[in-house]
Amino acid sequence: MNSHLSWSHYWRGGAGESLQAHPASPLYGFVSEYFLNRIKSQESVLDIATGNGALLRRLPAEHDGLCAGVDYSDISPQLELRNRHNFARMDGSSLGFTDNSFDWVVSQFGFEYVAREPALAELFRVLRNQAQVLLLCHREGSYLCVHSKQQLLEAQLIMASPLFLLARQWLTCFHCEQFERCELKLCMDSLFAQIRLPKESSLLLALLHGVMQWVRDVQSGRYSERQAQQIIHQWVLEVETNIERLEHQLNVALSAKDQKHLSAEFRREGFKAKTVALGEKGRSLAWGMYFSRQG
Ligand SMILES: C[S@@+](CC[C@H](N)C(=O)[O-])C[C@H]1O[C@@H](n2cnc3c(N)ncnc32)[C@H](O)[C@@H]1O
Repeated sequence: MNSHLSWSHYWRGGAGESLQAHPASPLYGFVSEYFLNRIKSQESVLDIATGNGALLRRLPAEHDGLCAGVDYSDISPQLELRNRHNFARMDGSSLGFTDNSFDWVVSQFGFEYVAREPALAELFRVLRNQAQVLLLCHREGSYLCVHSKQQLLEAQLIMASPLFLLARQWLTCFHCEQFERCELKLCMDSLFAQIRLPKESSLLLALLHGVMQWVRDVQSGRYSERQAQQIIHQWVLEVETNIERLEHQLNVALSAKDQKHLSAEFRREGFKAKTVALGEKGRSLAWGMYFSRQG
């Protein structure tokens, strides 16, 4: 599946808020200090890989410069945001804006997903003289990556779990007379009791509970065989998409080496760089980079 499809799926799946949306997060303060407090009301802003506009929605109401949010996924930000700003479906490596269009380019956990060389070329092309750039990136070892690794492990465990395989087999053979349903139910119950869930494994637990519930629904006649097949197909697709998304997320998370490379590229273009590692209670969250073009 193409990654823009998995991102669209991610947003449709109710991933409503961005990490920094919480005022307690150190990212929140970083965005205020290096973006919101510095932007002048008539300055133009582009948010690359805007998602549902988590950064743009923090612009002050009196800001009246051109403001655009682009993302290549199928996302529908809230109506209020759409009325205030221009949202467009666009790949960050091929921006449909003329040269020297923006005073600001910002991106929160988005720029790092775009193919870097064309993304940088496009970014430098649309920036005006004296422009400023704010990039927030996930960081290897960051909370998000650790969380993704844990979820990936869980999703892989689900796919490989004997319970899941049995449930799948059971539904596939639903119509076979020789399939002994009662025995199978007992067997599944005991398997479920035996499976050792990793600590705090909410995803695995919820999904395995889902499987049990769904097997019971089929047994009690709530679903027909055909519906059951459709449900399992959809379900497998969702777990696989989740796995793919998490793998993608981990693959693209910028390593410290990449971040140095990125800063070097900006410096070569005449930008002054300020990079900050953002952490909370000794745990790193992200890497924030602020660049301003020198006169
Ligand atoms: C982790 S989300 C961040 C979204 C938003 N900036 C936020 O802070 O909530 C990453 C976003 O990058 C977008 N994205 C990934 N690759 C992209 C590309 N090549 N061009 C445009 N958007 C892209 C995805 O669609 C997704 O919405």
